[in-house]
Amino acid sequence: MKNVLAFERPAKERMSPMAWDYYDSGALDEITLRANRDAWDAIRLAPRILRDVAKRSTETSVLGRRWGAPLMVAPMAFQKLGHAEGEAATARGARDAGVGITLSTLSTVPLETVATEAGDAPRWFQLYVHRDRELTRYLVDRAVAGGYEALCVTVDAPLLGRRERDEANAFSLPAGMELENLKGLGDTSRVEAESKSGLFAYFLQQIDPGLSWNDIDWLASVAKIPVVLKGVLNPHDVAIARDHGAAAVVVSNHGGRQFDTAVDTVTALRRIVDQGPGGIELLVDGGIRRGSDVLKALALGAKAVLIGRPVLWGLAVDAAAGVSAVLRILIDELDLAMALCGTSTIDEIDGAALL
Ligand code: GLV
Repeated sequence: MKNVLAFERPAKERMSPMAWDYYDSGALDEITLRANRDAWDAIRLAPRILRDVAKRSTETSVLGRRWGAPLMVAPMAFQKLGHAEGEAATARGARDAGVGITLSTLSTVPLETVATEAGDAPRWFQLYVHRDRELTRYLVDRAVAGGYEALCVTVDAPLLGRRERDEANAFSLPAGMELENLKGLGDTSRVEAESKSGLFAYFLQQIDPGLSWNDIDWLASVAKIPVVLKGVLNPHDVAIARDHGAAAVVVSNHGGRQFDTAVDTVTALRRIVDQGPGGIELLVDGGIRRGSDVLKALALGAKAVLIGRPVLWGLAVDAAAGVSAVLRILIDELDLAMALCGTSTIDEIDGAALL
């Protein structure tokens, strides 16, 4: 396939309409979903010339760890809806491309199995904080024991955003598909059909809307691995995150799936950088579909980006090989964009690349 967007249609053809709508949709009118894409497209680059770009490298470091490229797979739930091998294939494909993963709490493959598949590639664990804190603690302990290198706490979902397509489909997991990290822990592993979205109902019952900064302190103290907060848009929250021990934040609007008309992530990243992130590392996601978008994110001040839906498309089209192909395309495009911007290393990418 020649580019990442070319995976979208064949992926749709392979998924059930309910699964497709689940991944594809955004909240309400999907204005923020579209705004993310439009914002990357609207940025214009300012190429540099005659800077000897014969030798280039996409290597970087995030949270003190070497990454082959400034990309990571975003956490996405229920990946067996995309392909029968689910998160195991995603981890394998990402590893083959030299890219790390963030595994969702709501994975359909146990986190220990995914850890094995991820091999020596970076791996983070995305945490939804359940009302049941013992269960939450149990998940954190398993993630640490499984060699996950950071706890990526989703902080933008005290309640799930309303996705009208999921409501129309009465979204639920097919029989036999469960939240494998939560299996055997009461009724926390099933997402059942409701009159509307089963996932919306799951959040109401299980996920704690009382989550606060105190819980971030608690998580940082029990996890003993870096805590990353995912879903930060307001610059004021970045300083507070730092004061509560977060090592990084992901500037994210949850792929446009939480709060419609919330700010696009390009604008949010710009504002956060303008205010001065003060030592905290910034990642960004939402609508990144080209290697030049990755370069733009870095030029704006991000350390790395998370890639969501395109990875899912690759998974649906060709399991691990599809995931690898999608990530390799993005890395190749990034390499070309670096050359054309006169930058040979990731560290050289800065605001001068932007017009
Ligand atoms: C799950 O985390 C979702 O946002 O759908």
